[in-house]
Amino acid sequence: MTRITITRPDDWHLHLRDGAMLKGVLPESARHFGRAIIMPNLVPPVVTGDQAAAYRDRILAALPEGMAFDPLMTLYLTEGTDAEDVARAHASGLVKAVKLYPAGATTNSHGGVRDLDRVTGVLERMAEIGLPLCVHGEVTTHDVDIFDREAVFIDTVLDPLRRRIPGLRVVMEHITTEEGVAYARAGDETLGATITTHHLILNRNHILVGGIKPHYYCLPVAKREKHRLALRAAATSGEGRFFLGTDSAPHVDALKEHACGCAGCFTATNTMQLLAHVFEEEGALPHLEAFTSLNGPRFYGLPPNAGTLTLYKGETAVWPAKILTEAGPVTVFDPGFPVQWHVEG
Ligand code: NCD
Ligand code: ZN
Repeated sequence: MTRITITRPDDWHLHLRDGAMLKGVLPESARHFGRAIIMPNLVPPVVTGDQAAAYRDRILAALPEGMAFDPLMTLYLTEGTDAEDVARAHASGLVKAVKLYPAGATTNSHGGVRDLDRVTGVLERMAEIGLPLCVHGEVTTHDVDIFDREAVFIDTVLDPLRRRIPGLRVVMEHITTEEGVAYARAGDETLGATITTHHLILNRNHILVGGIKPHYYCLPVAKREKHRLALRAAATSGEGRFFLGTDSAPHVDALKEHACGCAGCFTATNTMQLLAHVFEEEGALPHLEAFTSLNGPRFYGLPPNAGTLTLYKGETAVWPAKILTEAGPVTVFDPGFPVQWHVEG
């Protein structure tokens, strides 16, 4: 197969930032994706329905003429979140998910949740109205090794939470381990899991062997090879539980190439080409559409996009090494191998 046409894809986990960065990176996503779940970890975070409405307006204002893109908004869960405000923002159609960041887990998460008991009321309300919780699934305690933080979170936080509030729809975001894959598979229809493009390509050696590669550092951090293989098997399986969330997370180069470099890989530009490469390698191109365009909308109770996207195989693909935003240059994810897939048009 050297050409494939799929339903226009969506990105179920995307960081667009704000201001000059938003303006610079938004076209990279809007070019290929119909919709995206927009992460709320701005500074300050998007906590209320009013803040989400204002952020959505800023995103649409930054969209270049002639591009179509539907930002699906989320709220950043805090211990002060008002269940009524959440329910209103959901009922109006504005907000499609609420995001749980354990406090301190990742970029701009210090305002996240320290004690889950303090948000039980909000979570119970979300279960009643069918509003999904997107979960950054890592514990943050210093005694847990960073490579174990996802697996420990599943056992000590996620599973108890889902048992306590059984109807709650949960997306395990950017899973990075075979434990994450196994837990997602074992769940019922209230459970979904997103997988990023870069976690299908990187293991931890890519970050650390032969010199530290700041542009491969993201959270959750890439794990051992066996975990990457488990993620590949899950993503390419076609199973409805798994769908694409790129977690494309732009940081300017000055903050990536730094003594204390920010976490995040910027994959908006070449995700679809890289996924075609990965799915072809796995002999699974017929399942690409389920992963990028069908499973996510089904989980969120939305129709698939009306348009299509065509990928074809040709010369070795070249894409810009950096996106030059007015906030500064942002390095585009380099898979480290040649890719022959292109997006038509
Ligand atoms: C994200 C960011 O930069 O906002 N970084 C990352 O490494 N993925 C935050 C996140 O999703 O954890
Ligand atoms: Zn993210």
